[in-house]
Amino acid sequence: MKVITVKNQLEGGKIGYQLLKEAMENGAKVLGLATGSTPVEFYNQVVNSNLDFSEMTSVNLDEYVGLDGSNDQSYRYFMNKHLFDEKPFKENFLPNGKAADLDAETKHYDEIIVAHPIDWQILGIGQNGHIGFNEPGTSTDITTHVVDLTESTIKANARFFENENDVPRQAISMGLATIMKSKQIVLMAYGKEKAEAVKGMVEGKVTIDLPASILQTRENVTVIADEDAASLLS
Ligand code: F6R
Repeated sequence: MKVITVKNQLEGGKIGYQLLKEAMENGAKVLGLATGSTPVEFYNQVVNSNLDFSEMTSVNLDEYVGLDGSNDQSYRYFMNKHLFDEKPFKENFLPNGKAADLDAETKHYDEIIVAHPIDWQILGIGQNGHIGFNEPGTSTDITTHVVDLTESTIKANARFFENENDVPRQAISMGLATIMKSKQIVLMAYGKEKAEAVKGMVEGKVTIDLPASILQTRENVTVIADEDAASLLS
């Protein structure tokens, strides 16, 4: 696991963009994408670049259950706003949070990923060490699944909603087994509230109590952390 410490999200976004550019020059065709505040500057760099995505496919990590793409809190809406409206891809996949049969939707999403293996995956990290919405205790063997969000994640994400009660209680998330299969992973972390999780991920024991720690067990993982997020690293 390579750790790059940066001054701020702007510098991190620029490095993330360079890594993506190199990956695309080396033939990456399928991008695994994340939402949340962490990748916003990265997407900004991408949108303001001359990279062409018209032959690229994207597969997002997750979506809230119950929200459709017209809801401004849905991850589909976020992705349209921050990336897809500006940089059209060949195809964009996100789980359908409004699917009538959620189990069928998880199977369908797994089929999509099998047909489009991920070359380059961007990740954020939750304060509790989650990646995607794989909360502490999730099995490392799991593929796409429906998640009951933890209180910690609901509280952390309440900042995007008018009221904490409006935060959906469930999401559909790509599983840890799927994330681990992507060829290259770039995880970004900013802010002191991520410092404990970053320390556990990079230097702690590999444990499902801190899902991101399993990234220690594989090659091709780059962590981009600002000074606050990296502040507890030895
Ligand atoms: C988002 C996702 C989550 C976030 C994490 C950090 O698609 O899968 O794992 O990356 O919750 O969120 P932010 O970036 O808002 O701190």
